[in-house]
Amino acid sequence: MNQGKRVGIVGAGNVGATVAYSLAMLGSCHEIILRDNKIEVAKGKALDMSQAAAAVRSHTVVSVAESMEELTDCDVVVVTAGSPRLPGMSRDDLLMINANITKEVVSGIAKYSPNAIIIMVSNPLDAMTYVALKESGFDRSRVLGMAGILDSSRMAAFIQEKLGYGGGQIRASVMGGHGDDMVPLPRYSTVAGVPLFDLLTEDEINEIVDRTRHGGAEIVGYLKTGSAYYAPAKSTAIMVEAILKDTKQIHPCAVYLEGEYGYDDVVSGVPVMIGANGAEKIIEVTLNEKEKEMFARSCNSVQTLIDTLNENKFFEEA
Ligand code: LAC
Repeated sequence: MNQGKRVGIVGAGNVGATVAYSLAMLGSCHEIILRDNKIEVAKGKALDMSQAAAAVRSHTVVSVAESMEELTDCDVVVVTAGSPRLPGMSRDDLLMINANITKEVVSGIAKYSPNAIIIMVSNPLDAMTYVALKESGFDRSRVLGMAGILDSSRMAAFIQEKLGYGGGQIRASVMGGHGDDMVPLPRYSTVAGVPLFDLLTEDEINEIVDRTRHGGAEIVGYLKTGSAYYAPAKSTAIMVEAILKDTKQIHPCAVYLEGEYGYDDVVSGVPVMIGANGAEKIIEVTLNEKEKEMFARSCNSVQTLIDTLNENKFFEEA
């Protein structure tokens, strides 16, 4: 039990609300506080979820913060606030709009929940994690981005679909940024420990890699008016639980690199050991030349976004 733990969720849209619902059903924390500019909608969702929690005899209460000042003393704050990705829009198109929203939200978190661990979910994910780190002034261990769990889960689902078996036994690995040049790692993906290359042809694996890279867009294409939320939310809830339960388990997450993998002052997705203190350890996986090249390309895309923010003097007016 994690009595007394408070989780804040900024942005009570599809992703934020589904993170809250998932945590409430698990009884992962004592209190979940939703913060959204649409206060009435947030209140309706909070009541609905508290009642769902009562139905499953979960002790979690879901409430609403009418302003950032009310989002006090949270152990974890999940940030999903931002403009969603619409059809034809790349994650990068969202850069400036969501950077400004993130800046405002994160300065509120730093002020009112100064001990929180921040989990960024808004896109473009890696750049927003960078913005959150810079704006909060928090140690890098306390600012994480959600994407690696999502992208790996998508890859696992595609492997299962292609194979027609192995569900629940798949460990898929994806590193790098949450963009079209993310780095799926078939060499480090297995089904019950059996390497992927012993189960599928190279062409089949390439198809899976390609579909994983565009997994978000595939869903946007169907939904038309928004992007995926069940898998993004569940992936976020897994990170929140790992922190609250101090599991010390490894999950792929976006973190600020300080020399790891040869990169500095950039955010990218890498395996991270998560515990009560956030990203407690960054794991360095051995990559071959081709994988290193892909990781470099991915880091460079994130760097381009950070450069754009700098060119717009985004960090100067703080
Ligand atoms: C996705 C978008 C939201 O991957 O980034 O679903």
